[in-house]
Amino acid sequence: MAVPNKMLAARLTAHGGPGALELVDAPVPSPAAGEVLVRVDAAALNNTDLWTREGAYGLPGDPHARSGWRGPIDFPRIQGADVAGVVVRLGSGVDSRMHGIRVLVDPANYDQDGDDANPVGLLGSERNGGYARYVTVHADRAHNVEGSPLSNTELACLPTAYGTALGMLERGRVQAGETVAVTGASGGVGLALVQLAAARGATVIAVSSAGKLSAVRHAGAHEVIDRATDPWQQIGSTAADGVDAVLDVVAGTGITTGLPSLREGGRWVVAGALGGYQIDLDIRRLYLHNIVLLGSSMHTPAHFRTLVDIAKRGYVRPVVAATYELADIHRAQADLAARKHVGKLVLVND
Ligand SMILES: NC(=O)c1ccc[n+]([C@@H]2O[C@H](COP(=O)([O-])OP(=O)(O)OC[C@H]3O[C@@H](n4cnc5c(N)ncnc54)[C@H](OP(=O)(O)O)[C@@H]3O)[C@@H](O)[C@H]2O)c1
Repeated sequence: MAVPNKMLAARLTAHGGPGALELVDAPVPSPAAGEVLVRVDAAALNNTDLWTREGAYGLPGDPHARSGWRGPIDFPRIQGADVAGVVVRLGSGVDSRMHGIRVLVDPANYDQDGDDANPVGLLGSERNGGYARYVTVHADRAHNVEGSPLSNTELACLPTAYGTALGMLERGRVQAGETVAVTGASGGVGLALVQLAAARGATVIAVSSAGKLSAVRHAGAHEVIDRATDPWQQIGSTAADGVDAVLDVVAGTGITTGLPSLREGGRWVVAGALGGYQIDLDIRRLYLHNIVLLGSSMHTPAHFRTLVDIAKRGYVRPVVAATYELADIHRAQADLAARKHVGKLVLVND
């Protein structure tokens, strides 16, 4: 496959507004030893792209500091965590059979080897990502998805949103027959939670804004609740004995209001803070009811292998809200921030 020397890429030059992301003619990177060059056929957007651009993650002891999710970003940085594409070049030491295969990229850097390693870095944040025509990744992060019935656009929806959702379900030990509440249910992670929780046999109560409720129900939610109408009171009346788990990407005051919606010994799994990151928690409401409050970041290597299996079998079909060309990245990020859509926004190169 002919690979040019230059490519279009969208890279961050600093933390800031939309202008901090610039479209440039960048050199096509060369894969180092143990890496592969992937032609990016589709790359999905995630809320983390906005927070990374803005530097909205704070730092320990300084919640207002401008920072990426793991600390300072090494600018300039090509954004984009979620890549589906084809391996077009191999670094030294890589199995030659990888050349030409269709791959889904695990965007995580891990803190150690092994199935249960923790993610401590992300494509598009700690190394250059997929808002480009080509990206280099470690060969063992490029997973073979030959034969998947999913399109490239659908595949690209999976890594961050469905990986994070799977991480929440696994860490929260959600089982068939349980009842779960999902917040932010119309978004990337939220809709993935709805689909994956329903697919494993859980009853799903989803919280979303009014205009998106029917789409969330269509994705598999058994009950839908308008987030503008005291959702925790409604969850309490829908699940009279309490829900087994809350899968939460919104946080904020919802945690303090919603904790009594859990059954005795229930699990509250939090992976996002769209509704606010500082809370005033009466800790007695936690320990007197044996509640587990659990932070969840992305996925483990074992979770990602499960995700690849899901992709190969077409076990869930991600909901694609809209596609864009890379040259339209600013419009795509503006649409992501406006949140009028349901599901994933994807950059498509082919
Ligand atoms: N921990 C991790 O590894 C990880 C990974 C991925 C994402 N995240 C975080 O998870 C969160 C969701 O990410 P995403 O990519 O799914 O975002 P997204 O696609 O933008 O979806 C978020 C959804 O949350 C709802 N929402 C937004 N603001 C809200 C508010 N103030 N109160 C209640 N609901 C609100 C919106 O739905 P409605 O309009 O229907 O209410 C929106 O569709 C973000 O905080 C993101 O940074 C964390």
